[in-house]
Amino acid sequence: MSSQRKFFVGGNWKMNGNKQSVDKIIEFVNKDCVDPDVEVVVGPSAIYLDYVRQKVNPAVGVAGQNCYKVASGAFTGDNSADMIKDVGCEWVILGHSERRHVFGESDQLVGEKVQYALKTGLKVIACIGEKLEEREAGQTEAVCFRQTQAIIDCIQKSDWANIVIAYEPVWAIGTGKTATPEQAQEVHEKLRKWLKEKVSADVANSVRIIYGGSVNAGNCKDLGGRPDIDGFLVGGASLKPDFITIVKARK
Ligand code: PGA
Repeated sequence: MSSQRKFFVGGNWKMNGNKQSVDKIIEFVNKDCVDPDVEVVVGPSAIYLDYVRQKVNPAVGVAGQNCYKVASGAFTGDNSADMIKDVGCEWVILGHSERRHVFGESDQLVGEKVQYALKTGLKVIACIGEKLEEREAGQTEAVCFRQTQAIIDCIQKSDWANIVIAYEPVWAIGTGKTATPEQAQEVHEKLRKWLKEKVSADVANSVRIIYGGSVNAGNCKDLGGRPDIDGFLVGGASLKPDFITIVKARK
């Protein structure tokens, strides 16, 4: 079943980089990350979106890391989905745990942002995931389902063709503590079953659910071999040539 879903690898550069380091990443991405079997997307800081879109191979998607829920207006410091689209980018990451937990974004705001971004024609990498205390309290599924429900409430069934879900347990992000392949597979499988009930069997079968949280060149093969793990959202390792190994995790 998983083979029908194209493997997806996103690089979330977060608030990192300058022109010099961005040039280096573009160089290895263009040389070694263009693969017809893998959908590759890179996510630079908003400042570099236009620059990266112009320089990276057209087969590689470019994603904003966030955007607001309206087209324009008095929202100092923010960017709109329309702007991301205007500079030629195709994707936006929304609901990343750093947006939720550092910048205080609510489930509802994330849902509204997803709705608006899809309306402009951007595709969305929608992030969900539980904190350590939530996992320890046995709330992993409840949290993931609640965050996903807030998105379902804002969109149409047909929108799912333009969404990738990134399951990123907060305790695994940037910590070096990767979820085990069993832990990640378990959540992905439960989420897919839940989507079947809440949305449709078609959507559940076709939507890509990718894993994020300390993915690296060493653990990507094992994770990527699980039936419900359709790729990765990679932070730290996406700034380094390790990203090439991760893109080729299924090879
Ligand atoms: P990490 O980040 O790979 O550095 O853990 C993943 C993410 O936040 O998307």
